[in-house]
Amino acid sequence: MHFGGDYYPEQWPEEVWPQDVSLMREAGVDLVRVGVFAWSRIQPQEGEFDFGWLDRVLDLLHEAGIGVVLATATASPPQWLTHRYPDVLPRTADGTILYPGSRQHYATTAPDYRRLAAALVTQIAQRNAQHPAVQLWNVNNEYACHVHYDYSDNAAAAFRVWLQKRYADVAALNEAWGTTFWSQIYSSFEEVLPPRTAPYSHNPSALLDFRRFSSDAALELFTAERDIIRAAGARHRVTTNFMGAFKPLDYWRWAAEVDVVSDDSYPDPRDPESFRASAFTQDLMRSLKPGQPWILMEQASDAVNWRANNAAKAPGQLAALSWQAVARGAEAVMFFQWRQSRAGSEKFHSAMLPHGGTGTRTWREVVALGRSLAGQPPRTPAPGRVAIVLDWENWWALDQPDHPVTFDYLQQIRTWYDALHRLGIRVDLIPAAADPQAYALVLAPALYLLDAPSAANLNAFVAGGGILVTTAFTDVVDEHDRFRDGGFGTQLRAVLGARVLGFTGIDPVDGRHVQTEAAGAGFTPQTFQEELEVETATVLARFDDGTPALLENRLGQGVSLHLATFTDAAGASSIVATALDLAGVVPAFADLPDGVEAIDGPDGTTLINHSGTAVVVPGRSHPLPPFAVVEPT
Ligand code: GLA
Repeated sequence: MHFGGDYYPEQWPEEVWPQDVSLMREAGVDLVRVGVFAWSRIQPQEGEFDFGWLDRVLDLLHEAGIGVVLATATASPPQWLTHRYPDVLPRTADGTILYPGSRQHYATTAPDYRRLAAALVTQIAQRNAQHPAVQLWNVNNEYACHVHYDYSDNAAAAFRVWLQKRYADVAALNEAWGTTFWSQIYSSFEEVLPPRTAPYSHNPSALLDFRRFSSDAALELFTAERDIIRAAGARHRVTTNFMGAFKPLDYWRWAAEVDVVSDDSYPDPRDPESFRASAFTQDLMRSLKPGQPWILMEQASDAVNWRANNAAKAPGQLAALSWQAVARGAEAVMFFQWRQSRAGSEKFHSAMLPHGGTGTRTWREVVALGRSLAGQPPRTPAPGRVAIVLDWENWWALDQPDHPVTFDYLQQIRTWYDALHRLGIRVDLIPAAADPQAYALVLAPALYLLDAPSAANLNAFVAGGGILVTTAFTDVVDEHDRFRDGGFGTQLRAVLGARVLGFTGIDPVDGRHVQTEAAGAGFTPQTFQEELEVETATVLARFDDGTPALLENRLGQGVSLHLATFTDAAGASSIVATALDLAGVVPAFADLPDGVEAIDGPDGTTLINHSGTAVVVPGRSHPLPPFAVVEPT
């Protein structure tokens, strides 16, 4: 288990470095990420490099037995670069230039940015590939964090190249995008623009492709830098830090390119449910590269600076959240950052070593955490028996204007994840294209965009004995966001045992209710009500107007449950209970108390109380103290 954080020695006089290193040793730090925003210090002018300070830092760290995650420094271009090459600056949809003065002010597709970033990384990699302190490489930093999309002329040119590769000729693009609608027919790729601010809604198929392109364009930057590092002879793993379930980047595609997944996690210490959000993102990180540990590259030791009201972590909360990551498969627990900055936008952001120094509670908790993690082996859980489909292309397609109802896809995923999390069941996340045969139960909420191969996998999964849970607004469009002949529900009709004839939006003011056929309370439907024509399915629950709300259908050896709406937590819990029962998955816990998490790991269950009060857990003789972590015995 590694322990450490971002180290920015360039922000401090050199006399401070030995003190840093000795305090790092006191805290049990054995890994620091160096160089993340150091471009202007490494390269003061085009063609001029200053590596002396970095050499001295790496040597100092190495002498102290502290390893380095060497960053490529390309996340914040220097002033000289944007002054000389203003064309690298990104633009928003309305043409506004995003100027320097902050960070991430580059267009992913700008040839000058790509050329100068490559030159920088070549120097860094050639100089340090064999440095004994280096353990790992971190390319750039949080790609697309601030600039989700770029609409510049550079982006336009690169988008055209990407489209040409995808469609080969413009007639295929016109067909895929349905451009006869509103007179949008293109006669050449040259006419295509990024979806810049327009009078009204953009073509949804074009928007979807622009999102695919934008994720791919950033990924090209990553792979280019990674390949330079490898070409320089570095044998270490290469990563870039992800941001949980981050909409603009398709991390399934990215995960295939990184050697190890790493993630930045900032749950709001004030939100009593935020530990569930971090559990979810950690399960996603674990699922991105199944069977491999992942790295918690950044977390805060205490408060952040970027919320409207930044709560400090409660005593013990730092350890609870760090052990959560360990129990969910992290091989390193790292922080942003080692020493709190004296100047700049993040001077209020907490650090391992706060402005208040070693007399602070934060420091004491950091030191205690470092000691407790020392020598711990990473836990790498085997794949679970339950999976939820989280698919970026589907997310992007859902996130379009002009749908029957606007809703949050991630929230739908979380409704089902949370119901399973409350039972202590380990959940893997999978993309729609995954073959889910290894799972007993798969949930695919709001899988609106369903291409034919993914649909074939789901059909085969159920026919082969799997249990599948689907909801309204599933199997609606193809990969171009177009309806197929026959409308919706065409790919999963046999699985559902029903035809989907249409849907209406529903709202809480409609006061709708779903009643189960068996005695029971029922639940509140949300967002959609589908009109179904039942073919082979059995109706398990009905809307209060008598129409089917929940179907069970046998196909081959398996069973599907289809919910013709969305649901609240109560509905999700009851449907999950039915599905687990059908799948033969027995939860170790009946509904865990609020604030308590049970993490099913290779050596047993870790229990964490994420709340500031003692909690009684059924089956345990003593209450769990506030923020207690109980490891498997
Ligand atoms: C992100 C960035 C860091 C820092 C932190 C602050 O994770 O990668 O550079 O800005 O946020 O929380």
